[in-house]
Amino acid sequence: MEQYVIKGGNPLVGEVEIGGAKNAALAILAAATMTDETVLIENMPDVRDTNILLQAIKSIGAIVERVDRHTVKINGSQISNLVIADDYVKKIRASYYLIGALLGKYRNARVALPGGCNIGSRPIDQHIKGWKALGAEVKIEHGLIITEAEKLTGSHIYMDVVSVGATINVMMSAVMAEGKTIIENAAKEPHVVDVANFLNSMGANIKGAGTDVIRIRGTGKLHGTEYAIIPDQIEAGTFMFAAAITKGDIMVKNVIPKHLESISAKLVEIGCEIEESDDAVRVVSSKPLTHTQVKTLPYPGFPTDMQPQMVVALALARGASIVTESIFENRFKYVDEMTRMGADIKVEGNTAFISGVQKYTGAGIVAPDLRAGAALVLAGLAAEGVTTVDDIKYIERGYEDFHIKLQSLGAIMERVDSERELQKFKLKIG
Ligand code: UD1
Repeated sequence: MEQYVIKGGNPLVGEVEIGGAKNAALAILAAATMTDETVLIENMPDVRDTNILLQAIKSIGAIVERVDRHTVKINGSQISNLVIADDYVKKIRASYYLIGALLGKYRNARVALPGGCNIGSRPIDQHIKGWKALGAEVKIEHGLIITEAEKLTGSHIYMDVVSVGATINVMMSAVMAEGKTIIENAAKEPHVVDVANFLNSMGANIKGAGTDVIRIRGTGKLHGTEYAIIPDQIEAGTFMFAAAITKGDIMVKNVIPKHLESISAKLVEIGCEIEESDDAVRVVSSKPLTHTQVKTLPYPGFPTDMQPQMVVALALARGASIVTESIFENRFKYVDEMTRMGADIKVEGNTAFISGVQKYTGAGIVAPDLRAGAALVLAGLAAEGVTTVDDIKYIERGYEDFHIKLQSLGAIMERVDSERELQKFKLKIG
């Protein structure tokens, strides 16, 4: 029963270091298998998702060496198996990046088809469309996506929806195709750019990443590299909201402020002060929060992965707010947990209508997914009394040392794994 137990009501104050971007890391780990030379990756977050993908990469024969907690060496020269088992895909959808990588390198990959997840159904039709355009045959049989190609040829691909995963997956395969590929309506997220930069450092020729048209000249062969992953935009945003929600003052360090602009702008709008420097953002929340309207959008819009943290802040703000989720269909499930803490929120379809309340009260709650789980922890930190958060395995998928970083900012919380430890914490806090 691993849980967080939290005594709320303490403003979080201090400095926090942000780690490498989980979502960039997942694609970069897969892409690292595309050369037979050794690749050294730095600033790798030590979180459950990256660790599972590393196991998946080992399971196909790649050599993985952990140099230190945040540095890993990968050598893909010994890959002998092009099948990624269901076990890995069930644990982590992003295993599907190995299709783009292996199809590019070996012209063949068999990966279990990812299922739906807690935030809604997640089709992969755009990935498949892209691979087919490059000349691959794609079949789904016995729960596997089977991709094969005699030859991959550059193509002009128009994505029907803006998809981070499809953009990256098709970009990886196109690097190994003959000729030129153009991906239109591409995703512009910072991690798409990071993966392109990583591939370019291995000898790929990708231009335009970060805009909606990406141009790739196939190179056929990639070489080893050393590369440091960008800071995690969503981890940074979560700590920025931790300041807003707990009425604190947090210096969020080792970030790229440009990647946080949509988050900073909304925080200013609801009454926080923001100070930016080259690689840090300070958030001070000294006034009552005020209401606003937010719609999640692809980058550079407000990220869907920050939507629950935003709702937790607005549900404590003065007045009525509206949050519209335009990326995933089922991303308000955590609202029921917030209601148990005293929030006043009504969800209709993809819109949450929020009436701000004065305070939350601690309750026993369950993390339904990664980002909502983190947001509920922030609610617990602002709440009166004790909150327990169950199913923290979801939070640990993407946040390294979450409770330790929060403790260092003054949070009164522990990670406990028995009833005895829970009672000990309760005794300690009186
Ligand atoms: C990535 C992030 C996730 C983030 C999301 C949106 C990783 C590992 N995960 O997920 O944290 O919430 O971007 O920023 O990087 N879609 C289709 N067909 C497709 C692919 C996607 O219709 O083939 C739809 C999805 O259902 C969704 C939208 O496109 O509505 C965006 O999804 P996408 O950008 O692909 O998200 P992921 O890459 O899965």
